[in-house]
Amino acid sequence: MSETTSVIEVCIAGTGSYLPENILTNAELAIRVDTSDEWIVTRTGIRERRIAAEGEFTSHMASKAAKNALEQAGLAAEDIELIVVATITPDTPTPATACHVQAQLGAFKAVAFDISAACAGFLYAMKICKRLISDGAFKNALIIGAEKLSTVTNWEDRATCVLFGDGAGAAVLRRSEPGEGSIVATEMGADGSLTHLLEIPGGGSACPITGENVNKHLHTLTMQGKEVFKVAVNRMKEAAEKVIERAGWHPEDIACVIPHQANLRIIDAIADRLAVPNERVFVNLHKYGNTSAAAVAIALDEANRTGVFKRGDHIVLVAFGAGLTWAAAAIRW
Ligand code: ACO
Repeated sequence: MSETTSVIEVCIAGTGSYLPENILTNAELAIRVDTSDEWIVTRTGIRERRIAAEGEFTSHMASKAAKNALEQAGLAAEDIELIVVATITPDTPTPATACHVQAQLGAFKAVAFDISAACAGFLYAMKICKRLISDGAFKNALIIGAEKLSTVTNWEDRATCVLFGDGAGAAVLRRSEPGEGSIVATEMGADGSLTHLLEIPGGGSACPITGENVNKHLHTLTMQGKEVFKVAVNRMKEAAEKVIERAGWHPEDIACVIPHQANLRIIDAIADRLAVPNERVFVNLHKYGNTSAAAVAIALDEANRTGVFKRGDHIVLVAFGAGLTWAAAAIRW
């Protein structure tokens, strides 16, 4: 699915993020499972990750990130007409985490729903909301990527427990005023023949929660890392190239690429294939690990707030996750 033009231009009016206070370092993980700081840093680039407190749910993190984004956008909760939360770790299977967020923010005029597209979810939400705004259905939308992956991590599996973390990121989308930035091009895709490469097998209708299933860790994430790695590099490169081409840009025009924060080797490979110098690729996975749907959203907010890009700059967001799913966006800031 792709698009290049719309009658009403849509911009990102504000960004926000929230990371739990509790830091879990590689050294601490090496006490729990047979791993080392050296292995984790060399293979992934991750040094530490954040872990949400016991009573801190995905919706709480999402709402905190959303409040920051609203503040930056200069909008109040009642100005928001649409809330989309991308997550694979909702507070509960139903109702949607977006409904909890709506209540926590007091954004009672907003339509609220969740989407499940794993790490690509925030960019899926961006494309959906951009279209709903440009079609004239809504004026202001809140898109949020939020995850409490610590609840679906098998803490006895060294192949996965070193990778994930908790957190949330958000952005306010609204109609652009003349002279403002815009989301210029978007792309998203999926390959359902590869669902088995990355999944939480239990907890749904195929494998309901039972004591036995929980003992087998079927409620936690499993991944065939090497296979996922290869597809991730190819699909993210293709998705990024498509939005760059549709935007009419060249690699030298791009001020910043914000890729999904799963593995530094994947990020380096994508930068190389897109011919974008590493210093123009934003990386924060050393601090937070892979926070799935939250990763690109948190990185966008950090880059925005630390002045990595300025108004008018061309930036590219690209992500990849379970499904398998992928998505990209070209944004004139
Ligand atoms: N510490 C020490 N050794 C380890 C660890 C660990 N934490 N984990 C695995 N190993 C060992 C393995 O057992 C294996 O040993 P062996 O050779 O004796 O069998 C060896 O290290 C190599 O393991 P690989 O899995 O082949 O390691 P690889 O270099 O592929 O790195 C990784 C694994 C980091 C998972 C990588 O494959 C990756 O990043 N994949 C893509 C992840 C991704 O992008 N996911 C998408 C988004 S996630 C989402 O949607 C929720």
